[in-house]
Amino acid sequence: MKVDGTQYRSIWFDHDANDVKIIDQRWLPHEFKIVALESLEEFAVAIQEMWVRGAPLIGATAAYGMAMQMARDPNDRSIDETWSYLEKTRPTAINLRWALNRCRDALCKIPPESRAEAALNLAHEIADEDVETNRRIGLNGLEIIKKIAAGKTAGDPVRLLTHCNAGWLATVDWGTATSPMYHAQESGIPLHVWVDETRPRNQGALTSWELGSHGISHKYIVDNAGGHLMQHGLVDAVIVGTDRTTASGDVCNKIGTYLKALAAHDNGVPFYVALPSSTIDWTVHNGVDEIPIEERNEDEVTHIMGKTDNGSVANIQVSPDGTPGGNPAFDVTPRRLVTGLITERGVCEASAEALARMFPENAN
Ligand code: MRU
Repeated sequence: MKVDGTQYRSIWFDHDANDVKIIDQRWLPHEFKIVALESLEEFAVAIQEMWVRGAPLIGATAAYGMAMQMARDPNDRSIDETWSYLEKTRPTAINLRWALNRCRDALCKIPPESRAEAALNLAHEIADEDVETNRRIGLNGLEIIKKIAAGKTAGDPVRLLTHCNAGWLATVDWGTATSPMYHAQESGIPLHVWVDETRPRNQGALTSWELGSHGISHKYIVDNAGGHLMQHGLVDAVIVGTDRTTASGDVCNKIGTYLKALAAHDNGVPFYVALPSSTIDWTVHNGVDEIPIEERNEDEVTHIMGKTDNGSVANIQVSPDGTPGGNPAFDVTPRRLVTGLITERGVCEASAEALARMFPENAN
């Protein structure tokens, strides 16, 4: 998508410099910085410390990390060690393991001298596929938005609510939850998006930055406002992303998603989850019991980063000195609260049967 009129992806291979470039998301929305990832350690830190973030982008970054390592050491042991080293960086988003498995399975079948080139081509393939998958998710989600718009007085906006950032920054391009929004905007459907702040890391600021750059009407709201807005009929649908969806349709996403789903259910507001099939964990059936929830550093809760009045970016403490912070980064929304899953193949209900029909080649 565009930043100040220039087309970007969130990650790309710089052929001139022969390195991988990313948008360093730690500084957004206040500063736009591009950095090169030059060692395996840097790839791991970039994922762990959220220079890159969002399940599909984490997967693509890991694939490029494997490619970089294959150029240095293409031996069998290096494949396994790189897999284990990168896989540990974030435990919840399944796209990380999906991408690493795909790399390992392909690379171990070919001779070491061919691995560097093959791994880089595979990383490009994973990145390009993600872009096309998200474009398709957008077209499928657009049909939902069109139906809502058809029930409104002409000119009245379709009012959506989203949580976290499941935008182009969280994928390679388009985003998952935001792709239907960008497609609706291109189709001339008036939209208004309520953007949850999403404490502690405030990914809503990233979503607002994206939507603002594309001229989509939106408001940045505190996480606790969603229930009130739904009660007052100000939300037509919720669309969120996911870090891992079970084979039976339970949805794990950024902490606070579950509360939005409960409020949506109580108020008869449809709750959609947009996801590429790479986010489905076909080995897991009960999301609450089986998905590991990342517990991040308490500093992310006790402190907050933002722009000061003099324009500099600073990190300040919000809690009393010595107060411990708790920081579970994700929660699970049970399938009964999900109206539909918007995938690259179409929209289906959140159930084992519907997912198996949509992706028969993956279902057990
Ligand atoms: O901790 P983050 O910022 O990586 O969490 C991101 C999310 O929870 C997104 O909603 C999810 O990865 C879907 S991204 C298309």
